[in-house]
Amino acid sequence: MPEGHACAYCGSEMDPIRTPPESSWGGEMHHICFNDDCSYFTNSWKALQNQGIDKTGYRCRMDPRGGCGPAPVWSEDALKDLIVKEEPDEITSFSWFRAHDLGRDDETPDGDFYTKPRFVDHLDSCALETVEQIYGRLTPEGSTILDLMAGPDSHLGKVYDSTIVVGLGLNKSELEANPVLCEHVIHDLNSDPHLPFSDNRFDVVVNTVSVDYLTQPLEVFREVSRVLKPDGLFIVVFSNRMFTPKAVNVWKTSTEKQRVELVRRFFSLSGRLAIQGYYESSGKPRPKDDKYFGHGIPSDPIYAVWGKPTNKSTNLMH
Ligand SMILES: C[S@@+](CC[C@H](N)C(=O)[O-])C[C@H]1O[C@@H](n2cnc3c(N)ncnc32)[C@H](O)[C@@H]1O
Repeated sequence: MPEGHACAYCGSEMDPIRTPPESSWGGEMHHICFNDDCSYFTNSWKALQNQGIDKTGYRCRMDPRGGCGPAPVWSEDALKDLIVKEEPDEITSFSWFRAHDLGRDDETPDGDFYTKPRFVDHLDSCALETVEQIYGRLTPEGSTILDLMAGPDSHLGKVYDSTIVVGLGLNKSELEANPVLCEHVIHDLNSDPHLPFSDNRFDVVVNTVSVDYLTQPLEVFREVSRVLKPDGLFIVVFSNRMFTPKAVNVWKTSTEKQRVELVRRFFSLSGRLAIQGYYESSGKPRPKDDKYFGHGIPSDPIYAVWGKPTNKSTNLMH
């Protein structure tokens, strides 16, 4: 990661910008040189004019790894509305994303939608096995685990007696039916993203096929960092099925690859979690026991992104 963000062509300080949702740049925070006298901008503008292309040019863009690329612009002011003025810690979900991105078709209280328990599998058996394997590999025996947005199954597989699992969700019957929970809390993260737990309580926080319902993801991710121990791990697992009326618009309009970028962005924009790993499993055959077997649909894809808290002292007494 470069220390400063000086333009390689004119030396001016570049501005941090929100990645336009329609771009394929990927990553989280890009920087653009908005100096109108920068040779990269003026030369590209002239070169395109010579080719008969009017009112188009490129500004120099730096990606999160410090690599340079072009940002196409059609006026001197184009893309300036994407400049981020807040410090990373002050970026909120609603200052980073457009309000529509985090809106949903059904804006009634989530508690109402989840009044009715749903004792259903959200994934086919092959995908469920993959989730169990991911959690099995990443959760040490004897951990204290928070299952964030929990249902009747935490997908943790074999849970040792020394392991403590706490569930947070919206439906009491689902949480009571979950066989590995030692404790559960009913809490609506969209009306209050604050987690009702003390600092540094958990070794691991898992979130399974539910991140698409968060309307304030950055606030929730920051809270996860707060309740995690300094060397703790946050594992976010997702697929491509959803309760459409409750999923946020930016999720619904994104491709599966863009959703991976989106989740990565939740980690990095939170300013409190550093990504440690990524896993993807897709294209496996649909299991024979599944109702869609024989319909030409592969097994549900599984994506997992995990990361650790940043800026936490490891000398804390637990
Ligand atoms: C698709 S289910 C997944 C359940 C479970 N994580 C699993 O993998 O089987 C979505 C879960 O998210 C929880 N949920 C949805 N909106 C929520 C909110 N606003 N606050 C807290 N939990 C929420 C619901 O209780 C529901 O159990």
